Amino acid sequence: MNTNQLFDNHGRPINYLRLAVTDRCNLRCFYCMPKEGIHYLPKKELLTFEEIERLISLMASMGISKIRLTGGEPFVRTDLMQLIRKIISINGIKDLHLTTNGILTGPHIAELKQLGIASINLSLDTLDRDRFKIITRRDEFDKTWEVFQQMVQSTIAVKINAVVMEGKNIEDILPMVELTRHLPISIRFIEEMPFNGEGNHYSDLIWTHKRILDHIKNAFPALTKISDPENATAYHYQIPGFTGNVGIIAAYSRTFCGTCNRIRVTAQGELKTCLYDDGVLNIKELMREGKSDGEIKMKLIKAFSGRPKDGFEAEAKRKSGAPIKESMSTIGG
Ligand code: 5AD
Ligand code: SF4
Repeated sequence: MNTNQLFDNHGRPINYLRLAVTDRCNLRCFYCMPKEGIHYLPKKELLTFEEIERLISLMASMGISKIRLTGGEPFVRTDLMQLIRKIISINGIKDLHLTTNGILTGPHIAELKQLGIASINLSLDTLDRDRFKIITRRDEFDKTWEVFQQMVQSTIAVKINAVVMEGKNIEDILPMVELTRHLPISIRFIEEMPFNGEGNHYSDLIWTHKRILDHIKNAFPALTKISDPENATAYHYQIPGFTGNVGIIAAYSRTFCGTCNRIRVTAQGELKTCLYDDGVLNIKELMREGKSDGEIKMKLIKAFSGRPKDGFEAEAKRKSGAPIKESMSTIGG
């Protein structure tokens, strides 16, 4: 382990940064945004590429070794590949991952592979064109599916992220599991969270991780628990003889906080030490006020040492006191 490794006040190493490069998106997924979209940030409110590089170098010197670029849709940000090339070369950064909806990703797959991208998470909630249109409010299934196939062919590690929603894509769960029979992919079913610009879609979550598991087990009784990588948020399963595997993410039930190694930086440069908090430090402002690396580091250390123990404590301590309703697109997935 990195000798500069920082730990939080609960003894958890902080080594994983999820950074939203933009809040803009070319889809309007129902679980992420209201249909009219969200108020996008003016460009000057986003971290510049130079600010992102500085931030990542600084965090790398504190023990961050894994980065995930998210959004919004990261590729909506022009010249994203320029940023990716830079990040990959930062000392201390071992793994770079991407979360994308795939629509603009196709032309970059070969270079991503060549640069050694660790994995790509493709957001795809259904295998059906009409349901895709209802969920994302855009008619882009064919494009996404084509890019998915290109990704698999490139031998980049691909994970599909599917948010499970009553009345929207339940009929897709089993066909998606079936995809893992011959493809070396991971398909991850995610509990829906209220980060959609509106608030809760259900007073009680209907498709909990337990219910998703039961549903799959009913159809595939041989489904077997396999080991979870360190700090994983997904519970991993596999059907014996299948090539890929299945993950279930209790994103709303929050069962995995005890080993949480991740922090987030939102599109507007706000640090979140938990997905469920509403921001603890505006890093962009510190940089633009001319603070030195040393000064910013001290503030980060202070923020890491006041981390809530889990997503429930973070939610209870939100400054706004208001229920969660911000869009995942600003937070970064
Ligand atoms: N609930 C659960 N997951 C969500 N994502 C976005 N919004 C939500 C939500 N409300 C996930 C999607 C996407 C990633 C960026 O975040 O699966 O892949
Ligand atoms: Fe980490 Fe917060 Fe998510 Fe728990 S809810 S895993 S503490 S980000």
